[in-house]
Amino acid sequence: MAHDKIKRGALVVVEGLDRAGKSSQCELLYRSLLDMNYKTEYIRFPDRSTPIGKQIDSYLRGQSQLGDHSIHLLFSANRWEVAQSIQDDIAKGITVIVDRYSYSGAVYSAAKGNPNLSLHWAWQPEVGLPRPDLCLFLSISPEEAAKRGGYGVERYETDSMQKRVRDLFLSLLDLPHNDEICVIDAGRPVDEVAQDILEPVLECMKNVDSIGSLKKLA
Ligand code: TMP
Ligand code: MG
Repeated sequence: MAHDKIKRGALVVVEGLDRAGKSSQCELLYRSLLDMNYKTEYIRFPDRSTPIGKQIDSYLRGQSQLGDHSIHLLFSANRWEVAQSIQDDIAKGITVIVDRYSYSGAVYSAAKGNPNLSLHWAWQPEVGLPRPDLCLFLSISPEEAAKRGGYGVERYETDSMQKRVRDLFLSLLDLPHNDEICVIDAGRPVDEVAQDILEPVLECMKNVDSIGSLKKLA
């Protein structure tokens, strides 16, 4: 069987705006891979269960205040605290699906418009984290997003913030060395989107040995 050849797992990240359907699609992808007998893990950021994650959760709910730089570094620390376990899982042949990662980390903070917090600055704490083999960006138009109903009550869930986040996400796609990013039109029926996600993921898992060992974000 094809997956007998896979020596390491693949690191697959799913990114996008709020309401793009990331969590539903990660769940579907996770189930599909398990059904196909692939060893698979599904994690998400922020991981609100750790002490750092609890501080992030409180900030997002508006229950505590933090400076833009401080909360930014907490989001990054929240990834660093599981970086080793991601690497260990990948080495064991487990494919790790990640709901949001460094790309969200950089663009949400930079979208706040703080003149001392550029996209370049925001990216620096991510340097050295495990680099995804594949990043699926679930793209949704502002019109389609609006049809999906209102935002929740968390910080950042406003039209103006989401618009800036979208523009910054798109600017990331243009950067050199970001060839592992694949844009998926997420404004379509769930099953169609799921199929469009599964194909590149299986392809990536098949080719992961030729990519070599897991790389680091630069
Ligand atoms: P969630 O909706 O996926 O739980 O994410 C919560 C919010 O946190 C969402 O608005 C995006 C934001 N975020 C950051 O600002 N920085 C990060 O590093 C991550 C992972 C999420
Ligand atoms: Mg959200």
